[in-house]
Amino acid sequence: MKKIAVITGGSRGIGYGIAKRLVEDGYTAAILDKNDRKDYQENFDGLTAVNPDCMYFQGSITDKKDREEFVSCVVRRYGRIDVLVNNAGVAPKVRTDILDMTEESFDYVVGTNLRGTMFMTQLAARQMIKQPWEGAKRGTIVNIGSASTTVSSTNRGEYCMSKAGVFMLTTLFADRLAEEGILVHEVRPGVIDTDMTKVVHDKYSKMIEEGLFPIKRWGYPEDVGNVVSLLCSDRFVYTTGNYIDVDGGFHIRRM
Ligand SMILES: NC(=O)c1ccc[n+]([C@@H]2O[C@H](COP(=O)([O-])OP(=O)(O)OC[C@H]3O[C@@H](n4cnc5c(N)ncnc54)[C@H](O)[C@@H]3O)[C@@H](O)[C@H]2O)c1
Repeated sequence: MKKIAVITGGSRGIGYGIAKRLVEDGYTAAILDKNDRKDYQENFDGLTAVNPDCMYFQGSITDKKDREEFVSCVVRRYGRIDVLVNNAGVAPKVRTDILDMTEESFDYVVGTNLRGTMFMTQLAARQMIKQPWEGAKRGTIVNIGSASTTVSSTNRGEYCMSKAGVFMLTTLFADRLAEEGILVHEVRPGVIDTDMTKVVHDKYSKMIEEGLFPIKRWGYPEDVGNVVSLLCSDRFVYTTGNYIDVDGGFHIRRM
């Protein structure tokens, strides 16, 4: 039986890039996304063309009922969860100076990126703990953080704070779940070409051209998918609670 990978926010963008890579690796992908599947049918068809057993569930990681229904659907259908990729995330609807940030925007961004990820992880981890070990581990959890964990953007502070929280969430679950045979990693994309960065596409293209980071090109969803694939493999079994930057070297401090 194929291993089961749950990917939140897998209808498009980075989440789809990850799902595609994992399906090509031999996983069955179970997608949880708030988007209607029909709006991104072509992407889902790209998964089922490789593995017809993939599933799509429309729901939100912020909603307890949706999370629970989704996980029970996955377990009813496949009997297990081997990988959880916490990818679903949002940017603020409007970029605003931190002095003008609204409580609504804070709740929306932190409620999705941190609170949603927290309780999705808890649910999936409880399921993984019920499962037998497969070789050196029982499961893998990968959280999609961001360069914004440490890079300050004062016009989207709620996003930076939410991703800084994901860093500690990764640390906490890595610590707690190691004894359960579940390894927890974080991947920090830099600037990736997706719908999320559409609004700043021209600005970032110019900055990249001018040398914003050492590898002078946009990152693509498959760049992130390839790294997630490695972390989920059996090659990383003595590693937990770390992060990997997938950012063209953006994190390097330069003179
Ligand atoms: N694009 C970048 O440059 C970049 C950089 C660093 C980190 N990230 C992170 O990568 C992840 C994916 O971002 P992306 O660029 O592909 O963005 P995107 O907007 O293209 O995709 C995000 C996906 O998550 C889904 N989603 C959002 N909220 C959800 C919810 N409550 N429940 C279920 N699904 C939900 C969306 O419907 C969408 O399919 C996010 O966590 C984002 O913060 C992106």
